[in-house]
Amino acid sequence: MNDDIKKGLMGVTVDVTAVSKVMPEINSLTYRGYAAQDLCSQCRFEEVAYLILNGELPNKKQYKQFLKDEIGERTLSKNLINIIKQMPKKSHPMDVARTAVSFMGLEDKETTDNSSTANLRKAMRIFSKTPTALAAFYRFRKGKKIIPPKKDLTFAENFFHMCFGKVPNKDIVKAFDVSLILYAEHSFNVSTFTARTITSSLSDIHGAISGAIASLKGPLHGGANEEVMHMMKKIKKPENALKWINNALDNKGVVMGFGHRVYKSGDSRVPTMREYFGKVAKIKKDKTFEKIYDIVEKVMIERKDIYPNVDYPTGPTYHLMGFDTDFFTPIFVISRITGWSAHIMEQHAANKLIRPLAAYNGCKHRKVLELNQR
Ligand code: COA
Repeated sequence: MNDDIKKGLMGVTVDVTAVSKVMPEINSLTYRGYAAQDLCSQCRFEEVAYLILNGELPNKKQYKQFLKDEIGERTLSKNLINIIKQMPKKSHPMDVARTAVSFMGLEDKETTDNSSTANLRKAMRIFSKTPTALAAFYRFRKGKKIIPPKKDLTFAENFFHMCFGKVPNKDIVKAFDVSLILYAEHSFNVSTFTARTITSSLSDIHGAISGAIASLKGPLHGGANEEVMHMMKKIKKPENALKWINNALDNKGVVMGFGHRVYKSGDSRVPTMREYFGKVAKIKKDKTFEKIYDIVEKVMIERKDIYPNVDYPTGPTYHLMGFDTDFFTPIFVISRITGWSAHIMEQHAANKLIRPLAAYNGCKHRKVLELNQR
């Protein structure tokens, strides 16, 4: 292969960003300069969402307004609810999220306005409405009544309420909130880069986020948290874990929830999420997946020197919280909308069309023959 080609853009720096910084050498991640783990311990997800979208943590007045805006935009239009009710019940919820965001773009009065102020307003609407759309599908496909959003609940509480009709205890809500903070932003990952690439042609935010959702769905990216759960369900019991993982590695299998393009000696988000996974397992009095988790992790490190990424602890955590497995990546979506939106606005503010080159390796130049000569 041509030495100039950086397959998968590995190691290539393509632009600047002020949204977040991934520092694999010191195993750290900052959003707008704040360590993600500090934000997890000191902030609610909504404060972090504000930070990512606006560049600064909110003061009291700004926070109050932000909460008002988020709560005020949660309700879906009748048309969107009707569309959700017409979706095949077997649809993957990631495709539902993608379609819902795309439809929101058809309804949005500012779709064609790509100014930073309009984009921020549109980002808020997508951020507020997408959880409602996903929860509506969650209920609809089970033949249950759709539960509208509730104004006196936090972003995390409201999602539980709309999916299950009740809000769990505060420690479970906190674990969910922490997962949202950890999923909110991660520099130029594939879905964010997709969003920026779409934006670079001066396309709109609904299109960019729809594309980002499609990208996140893949098992090498966000879809890994669902795959982790499929793997854990296959392993079933801690007694089976050692044999299963050794067998998978002997057969050169890719073990989901492990490895990362940037972090090579551990994902900075894992220790925090692992701690909250343990808390949820304790509350639920179910240590099965925790035991499987530890065995698989130990073998992966010993045999391959490959460490878990954040999808490894979030998968079983969401399972213990009661979510269907195919809703794990959609939960990632409702959080990452903040990061994507910030990058879309950043791209618009200093745009350059993203158009790389390709080294052609197809047929040599040839002449077109008449139909009867071919
Ligand atoms: N299980 C087993 N082996 C793995 C692995 C995993 N999860 N992740 C990487 N490896 C191995 C590869 O097989 C490869 O081995 P080789 O050099 O002998 O061929 C080597 O480690 C390098 O991996 P590669 O896939 O080339 O690195 P990458 O930077 O392109 O890939 C991922 C990064 C994330 C795509 C990859 O680690 C992966 O597929 N992980 C599982 C999916 C996942 O959890 N994704 C979520 C990421 S946040």
